[in-house]
Amino acid sequence: MNEPIEALLAEGRTFAPSSAFAARALITDAEVYADADADWEGFWARQALALDWFDEWHTVLEWNLPDAKWFVGGKLNVSYNCLDRHVNAGHGGQVAFHWEGEPGDERVLTYRALLDEVSRIANALTALGVRKGDRVAIYMGMVPELPAAMLACARIGAAHSVIFGGFTANSLVDRINDARAVAVITADGAWRRGSIVHLKDIVDEALGATPTVRSTLVLRRTGHEIAMTEGRDHWWHELVAAQSPHCPPEPMDAEDLLFILYTSGTTGKPKGIMHTTGGYLTQVAFTHKHVFDLHPETDVYWCTADCGWVTGHSYIVYGPLANRATSVIYEGTPDFPDKDRMWRTVEKYGVTIYYTAPTAIRTHMKWGDEFPERCDLSSLRLLGSVGEPINPEAWVWYWNTIGRATCPIVDTWWQTETGAIMISPLPGATVCKPGSATFPLPGIGADIIDDDGRSVAVPGGGYLALTRPWPSMLRGIWGDPERYHQTYWARFGDKYFAGDGAKRDAEGYFWLLGRVDDIMLVSGHNISTTEVESALVDHPAVAEAAVVGKADPTTGQAIAAFVILRAGNDPSDVLVGELRDHVGRLIGPIAKPRSILFTEDLPKTRSGKIMRRLLQNVAEDAELGDTTTLADASVVAGIKARYLAQPNDD
Ligand code: WT7
Repeated sequence: MNEPIEALLAEGRTFAPSSAFAARALITDAEVYADADADWEGFWARQALALDWFDEWHTVLEWNLPDAKWFVGGKLNVSYNCLDRHVNAGHGGQVAFHWEGEPGDERVLTYRALLDEVSRIANALTALGVRKGDRVAIYMGMVPELPAAMLACARIGAAHSVIFGGFTANSLVDRINDARAVAVITADGAWRRGSIVHLKDIVDEALGATPTVRSTLVLRRTGHEIAMTEGRDHWWHELVAAQSPHCPPEPMDAEDLLFILYTSGTTGKPKGIMHTTGGYLTQVAFTHKHVFDLHPETDVYWCTADCGWVTGHSYIVYGPLANRATSVIYEGTPDFPDKDRMWRTVEKYGVTIYYTAPTAIRTHMKWGDEFPERCDLSSLRLLGSVGEPINPEAWVWYWNTIGRATCPIVDTWWQTETGAIMISPLPGATVCKPGSATFPLPGIGADIIDDDGRSVAVPGGGYLALTRPWPSMLRGIWGDPERYHQTYWARFGDKYFAGDGAKRDAEGYFWLLGRVDDIMLVSGHNISTTEVESALVDHPAVAEAAVVGKADPTTGQAIAAFVILRAGNDPSDVLVGELRDHVGRLIGPIAKPRSILFTEDLPKTRSGKIMRRLLQNVAEDAELGDTTTLADASVVAGIKARYLAQPNDD
């Protein structure tokens, strides 16, 4: 069934939805774009009506740039929309989450069971003195109690700040203090690749420096011995279990804070991105339903993200539950106990919709086809990608090897700040091109602009900007309105600056080119790191590549590449020459990397983004600087040693 890769990658090759997919799809008619454009506020108001409101809004949008208020005067509760209304409609027995622990334990949570648990947690938080408007930090692994804790906060009107379970005590201290959180919800530990992450020990270390925290709620997950501080720490199985499974949902204003999520900025201090209630839920529900073409009666949906990132908030918890999806949640790493764990899990639960990141896709490519090939993936009908540009080679591998050439792929562009998907195919209506996120979704205004903020003619490239407010937009940076204005609105005045470079081809397709700080300037030419990386990965021997611009006295910057080979290929000088020529052929001789270093690993953040800044420091033999956000700090030291040992490239 699979066509050769070369044919699939052929220039101009497009991928239309199959007639079988389109026959069942929720949206097949591209009219929807024009309808939404004609009255975009009215369009979003219609989407908001898909939710249950205690009181309807009187004004759809109040826009005082850069401050938006959506559905003003409306009252609703997010946990009510995610749980109660489905149970009330007779769907209490439907599975909300199939949860799979890393060691192989399983749990099934129906909507009824999840509502009871969320209500008990909400009552426990109230018993601990947490009140509407307070902030609660959540620091857990991927257990079902994590989404339940988020929903419990939403139920009583406390804002959550989920802190990824891989962060250190220092990062916890910064985030807890910035938000002035009154409580921390955590667990004794989490399972990760067969070992325990000692979450509670890390919380104990942090709480010495967080004066606002009065209490903790501690889930027993790994069961190892931990210290409990009398009066401050409370066991989940004692406090939560003792509560009533009834807790009335607090009616919240549409603009009340739902959560804060910290994202790393260009400077050291993380930004507390604020999201509110009505607009956020409206857009995550709309996008989840239509981008993933969700049929709640038959689909089994799996987003492989962690709840510590915005993808987990919007597309594991709030979007799917608002739409009454049945989802899979997996606790651990994709290579435990073997590299087929994800595909075994797809087979086991009959997953129909699978949403993951390009870095994960390239890792699976590197591991080899034998792992997906030994599993039955025939239940899959739609694939998604998020987090960075997906290079065409990875797109085609995903299409062929995971999707068996039958599943549309939705490449979804968005940010922590946008809250929900902004640019993406609609799988039943959009003809896709590998590597392009295609078009802004209905209701969304996006443009590509030049340094002066003027729209760049098609075809052409520049900065990606958002030209209208959207319901799930960030409402600012917690405690720092000036930084909000400076970061996103100061550069172009009336447009939101996303920080990404992008181009539009002759047919108006959007191609994301990575962060603009990742544009290199070689002999006066702008070359994006993404383009060169994509060209390297296009070579059959290459699994993954990172490139950086290294200061160069003659050319301004010179391109240094770091390359991971696919299983079965060996580093050699011949291969270096081949790869340089390959890039030269695909982009132009100007883009040929000056140096190529073969490596086993690349320095990545815990969310999987390559830290090019560190590689640049390696290439320029500068101080490495801050490495605390790295998933594995030893990787960069190893690369540095090898980089310095290689023969001088100049
Ligand atoms: C940045 C936002 C959105 C949830 C995960 C990341 C990059 C994200 C894509 C995509 C090209 C993408 C952008 C964006 N990005 N998705 N489909 N194609 N680039 O959230 O950590 O806030 O990062 O991720 O550079 O600005 P985040």
